[in-house]
Amino acid sequence: MRVKDKIVILTGAASGIGRATAVLFAKEGAKLVLSDINEDGGEETLQLVKKEGADAIFLKCDVTKGDDVKEMVEKTLEKYGKIDILINNAGVVRVGQIEDMSEEEYDLLLGVNLKGPYFCCHYVVPHMKKQKSGVIINLASVAGHIGQVNHALYCSTKHGVRGMTKALALDLAPYNIRVNSVSPGATDTPMLVSDVTKQAKDRGVAFEVVKKEFEEEGVMGRWATPEEIAYGILFLASDESSYMTGADLLLDGGWTAR
Ligand SMILES: NC(=O)c1ccc[n+]([C@@H]2O[C@H](COP(=O)([O-])OP(=O)(O)OC[C@H]3O[C@@H](n4cnc5c(N)ncnc54)[C@H](O)[C@@H]3O)[C@@H](O)[C@H]2O)c1
Repeated sequence: MRVKDKIVILTGAASGIGRATAVLFAKEGAKLVLSDINEDGGEETLQLVKKEGADAIFLKCDVTKGDDVKEMVEKTLEKYGKIDILINNAGVVRVGQIEDMSEEEYDLLLGVNLKGPYFCCHYVVPHMKKQKSGVIINLASVAGHIGQVNHALYCSTKHGVRGMTKALALDLAPYNIRVNSVSPGATDTPMLVSDVTKQAKDRGVAFEVVKKEFEEEGVMGRWATPEEIAYGILFLASDESSYMTGADLLLDGGWTAR
């Protein structure tokens, strides 16, 4: 087991990549603090990891709210006494030309995708520093490497996540804390389905047309499964990546290799 008895905080655990990561980490022996704003989905993930025999809890937490994150960290420490691994996975996407994107959408994207990881690191890092150990994994994206049509705000946040990852790696290396990011390409989750649905509606074309375009972005001609991304996250969380910090693991099916 690659993360046996490790205490893991995972945000955005109710769906998609977060849920697949929760189940994989449960199989690999982790003790899990699952969090999300979506309580029903979070409870469903909790049942799935319990089926795997994991010691786990679900906490409702909006990562854009500092008080929520502070409480999540305090409750984790009350129950488990330490935090070994933080996975900043919660994220949102909004699609459109910049003139059509509202200030509310800007605040939402920046809030969840960048302020969320900031709050989680802000409250978790002091404990990891005291322990003199820890691993932080941030979910970036292929959109943190290249520009994507209709995704100016989302791309801003994911490039930002990569910047935060690199800078934090420098600050935290003296404390034996590794910080890396994972950059998925098109991955079959509710987020991608909502993205494709919106683009199809805006362009007046069928869902399948936009889906095919996304499939063809990667040279493998298909979307990733959430489990394929979870394996990358597990690698970064485990000691197998012990010499890796400030780096990004690109799992984009060849999208950026062209
Ligand atoms: N699916 C893709 O193609 C893809 C590609 C690249 C990167 N990513 C990134 O992977 C991560 C997971 O995405 P996914 O595809 O599984 O999406 P998803 O929509 O299936 O899951 C995201 C989860 O985040 C939660 N969330 C949203 N706002 C929140 C908030 N304020 N506080 C706490 N939780 C919140 C949602 O409730 C949801 O459960 C995101 O950071 C996303 O940007 C996804």
